[in-house]
Amino acid sequence: MMPKKLSQTVILIGFMGSGKSHVARLVSKSFDVPVIDLDARIEAACGSSIADVFTHHGEKYFREKETATLREVLRETSRAVAIIATGGGVVTGEANRRLLQEAAQLDVLVVYLRAEPATLAERIRQEPGKRPLIDGEKILDIDETNRRVKVLLENRSALYESCANLIIDTDLLKASQVAEIIKVKAMDQQ
Ligand code: S3P
Repeated sequence: MMPKKLSQTVILIGFMGSGKSHVARLVSKSFDVPVIDLDARIEAACGSSIADVFTHHGEKYFREKETATLREVLRETSRAVAIIATGGGVVTGEANRRLLQEAAQLDVLVVYLRAEPATLAERIRQEPGKRPLIDGEKILDIDETNRRVKVLLENRSALYESCANLIIDTDLLKASQVAEIIKVKAMDQQ
């Protein structure tokens, strides 16, 4: 049997803890396509973790790197399809939103992995200290994590929605089920 083919590049967007990197790896396993993780690429280029980039260089520097990396990755994937996992704040930059919206019009599947604040907060708490914008400076209790997630998500929800051409509500789904929905949608139908 011929291996199934991915017919279009897939970009995953969504809040921290929405499962972008995990789902990207699951989708890529089914097809012979690479996963490109924007944060991992920035970490490799800077030689340090995202948390350290924020501490030593600040958020503005990180956002500049994020835009440059998104541009570079979109250029690469115009030649060969891939699964791209973005960082949760990619939609906060106007230039990034424009790049994502243009890509969505050019046959890229931009998928928003949507989830409720409580779901996201619980997942974020499983990796303490990894998200500088939530619990960078100290370990938080569940109420404070929830509060911070809610505030940030309120500012960002409409931005995610404005860039996506597919929205998946993930609260009640396992990562494998989310990956399955994307696979069906992005698979070459021949
Ligand atoms: C950020 C999300 C993080 C990372 C950085 C900023 C954000 O990525 O890019 O800490 O602003 O939401 P994940 O969504 O993979 O946690």
